Amino acid sequence: MALLDLIKQRKSVRRFLDWPVEREKIMMCLEAARAAPSACNSQPWRFIVVDDPELKNRLCERAFHGLYFINAFCKKAPVIVVIISEKGRFLARIGGMFRGTRYYLIDIGIAGEHLVLQAEEMGLGTCWIGWFNESAVKKALSIPKDKKIDVLIALGYYDKKKMKSTRDREPLEKVASFNAY
Ligand SMILES: Cc1cc2nc3c(=O)[nH]c(=O)nc-3n(C[C@H](O)[C@H](O)[C@H](O)COP(=O)(O)O)c2cc1C
Repeated sequence: MALLDLIKQRKSVRRFLDWPVEREKIMMCLEAARAAPSACNSQPWRFIVVDDPELKNRLCERAFHGLYFINAFCKKAPVIVVIISEKGRFLARIGGMFRGTRYYLIDIGIAGEHLVLQAEEMGLGTCWIGWFNESAVKKALSIPKDKKIDVLIALGYYDKKKMKSTRDREPLEKVASFNAY
């Protein structure tokens, strides 16, 4: 499939099929993420794939409890990818402070979207998750307290026929222009 078609086909999946995801496919998603560019080639990420059903259930029970209940649909996702935002290279951090730009978040976003698009290409659906109980995730996976988890990605097979059309996007002329603002 042409890249633009794949990009347009991708939608956030919030209803997953109860099928396990093959480790080989998960590895390809991780490879796609690993190949992402990053400021100063800093690679400020670490991915923890949670595909053990018991652990995943425990994690989801805690991470999407209370205030975070809106994302309880993740309990049905067979895989949760936890992206830890690592410190990255000194130069990228100093440069980021100087510019007032959190390069590591840009880096994480690119790597995560690589993962998402690779998944889509293999028939797997994903949903970025930014609203979750971070300390609960850390506890469930023994992640040190001083680490930062900005996002998770829910991953699993889905029924393409049951997908609604994607959310509207702003018209191109509103978000892009040539040669001037
Ligand atoms: C950084 C980030 C965080 C997000 N967090 C959530 C979330 O917590 N829960 C959720 O259901 N969707 C979440 N989304 C998905 C967006 O709602 C979704 O991408 C957007 O509405 C566009 O819809 P589409 O992905 O189907 O094209 C998140 C997306 C991004 C990029």
